[in-house]
Amino acid sequence: MQTAPLEGLREEALAALAAASDEAGLERWRITFFGRQEGRLTALLRSIKDIPADERATFGAQANQLKQSLEVALDARQQELKAVALKVLSTEAALDVTLPGRPQVIGKLHPVTQTMRDCLAAFGEMGFRVAEGPEVEWDRYNFDGVRIPEDHPARDMHDTIWVNTLIDGKRHMLLRTHTSPNQVRVLERTPAPPVRVVVPGKCYRQEATDATHEWMLTQIEGLAVDEGIRMTDLKGVLYDWSRKMFGADRKIIFHHSYFPFVEPGVEIAIDCFICRGDGRECHTCHGTGWIEILGAGMVHPEIIENAGYDSSKVTGFAFGIGVERVAMLRWGIDDIRNFYANDVRFLRQF
Ligand code: FA5
Repeated sequence: MQTAPLEGLREEALAALAAASDEAGLERWRITFFGRQEGRLTALLRSIKDIPADERATFGAQANQLKQSLEVALDARQQELKAVALKVLSTEAALDVTLPGRPQVIGKLHPVTQTMRDCLAAFGEMGFRVAEGPEVEWDRYNFDGVRIPEDHPARDMHDTIWVNTLIDGKRHMLLRTHTSPNQVRVLERTPAPPVRVVVPGKCYRQEATDATHEWMLTQIEGLAVDEGIRMTDLKGVLYDWSRKMFGADRKIIFHHSYFPFVEPGVEIAIDCFICRGDGRECHTCHGTGWIEILGAGMVHPEIIENAGYDSSKVTGFAFGIGVERVAMLRWGIDDIRNFYANDVRFLRQF
């Protein structure tokens, strides 16, 4: 019987397997004993045919049993090495594989964006659709189209940021100072009334900033044009909107104002949430007791006529809301400059 070489091979193989300490070692072991060309066990199995016939069956059975037991031993060693590697990772590499993953930081909309969307939704319920216009605007839309010609003193109320491109030796493009140029843009592309739009967007002014003035501000322009529109319609729409935004118990004041593109013109202010108009020194409302949030009025007949409509029949109202001011009043923010100071400790609160 040829059992001695089998036993010798088993011992050798098991010792070599115990000495293999990583994946590469296991692979070398596999090639040495099970390799298709020169593996020692493969050679042994191949030699079965040369064994004398009376011993062949027994030897073959034992050789196959050796093959199976070595395969089992290889599998067990593989598992053992995997467990060791994990233990090393969790202790020496100080990696706690049981720790939960890091949660994703979920962002929020900026408070001015939230306020703008809430305003647009409130006007949407009243039948206004949303339109848009460019932030870099022509002077003919920003000023001339809304009755502020070049030498008009009202241009001084807008401290304009011009684009330095010259056309015929003059600057004609600017960062829009208000959303009112969209009154002209919308009417120009609407062949016949009715018109009912709100146009949100950023505006820019060269301002000396203070608690209620920024050099970049967000406005929502509103425009309703149709036969028979009256000042009471304007008041109704704006009262309804302000009740939705501020609640029924806030005080609202309308007073006369001047804008060249409306006649008559008004301004709306809300009672100051800091001083409630008690007469003390207040840096938010400058002691007036009121914070102005929008300008409005009945669209000037000349603008109606320029759009090709008959101003003896067609009338309209327009308004321009300062969205940052609305956000200040909603949340009791005493300084507009907080919105764009990029301090996430402030922004996270809304
Ligand atoms: C206008 O811009 C007019 N286009 C509004 C208008 C539209 C009137 C349609 C009539 C008809 P005014 O400059 O007052 O008007 O600005 C309107 C609102 O924008 C103000 O009530 C205020 O809420 C806001 N606002 C104006 N300037 C600033 C600023 N520098 N910083 C923050 N908000 C401002």
